[in-house]
Amino acid sequence: MSRAEKSSYWDAFYSSRKKGAPAYPSQFAAFAINELTDVDGVIEFGCGNGRDSEFFAAYGFDLLGLDASAEAIDLCRSRSAHEHARYVQCPAGAARDEITSFLSGKRKVAVYARFFLHAIDEDEANAFLDLLSVLLPAQSRVFFEYRTVDDADQEKTFGTDHYRRYLDHSDMLANIERAGFSIDYQIEGHGLAKFRDEDAKVGRCVAQKN
Ligand SMILES: C[S@@+](CC[C@H](N)C(=O)[O-])C[C@H]1O[C@@H](n2cnc3c(N)ncnc32)[C@H](O)[C@@H]1O
Repeated sequence: MSRAEKSSYWDAFYSSRKKGAPAYPSQFAAFAINELTDVDGVIEFGCGNGRDSEFFAAYGFDLLGLDASAEAIDLCRSRSAHEHARYVQCPAGAARDEITSFLSGKRKVAVYARFFLHAIDEDEANAFLDLLSVLLPAQSRVFFEYRTVDDADQEKTFGTDHYRRYLDHSDMLANIERAGFSIDYQIEGHGLAKFRDEDAKVGRCVAQKN
């Protein structure tokens, strides 16, 4: 699937399923907020309809939400209730200027990306990790959650007609370390991202920039 096809899938998803995509925060966001001590802001990549970004903003964090889908970003802006939350339509690989400007005056930040790394191809994922490695201040933290290989054959609430790259959890952790991060916490399993009848097998990782 080409990048243009992936992007038009998400535009259609956010324009036609405004009521279907959950607006309440994910389990991963509830987990992450417990760990968000001593950061000056949160950047979410692949923020979708802003469900998790708005949750972080509601607890006072300066927030930058990025997504490649224009429809997703329109939805975020229309729902946003926080002046310190900014939403920008931008593919992750082109986000250098947005990140740099958000980092100005901040000591360290958290980067949060839920169900994002498996939604992009391997080259994009490596470029994304490299970008974080170059731009993030030391001791910034990253929070990732993604579908893993054992999830490939499970039924999906939102169907199978869009791009998903099921990740090997150990390989992903090794890539994150290679990009200059130390893993603080990781887990793989069920029960972490349950949605109605679907209980995805996912990997989670919290890592710190060296
Ligand atoms: C599975 S959805 C996850 C949305 C949200 N994080 C959630 O958990 O509900 C993946 C999101 O990544 C976005 N996306 C896909 N490729 C992207 C890219 N290269 N750069 C930025 N966003 C991208 C899609 O538009 C979509 O909103």
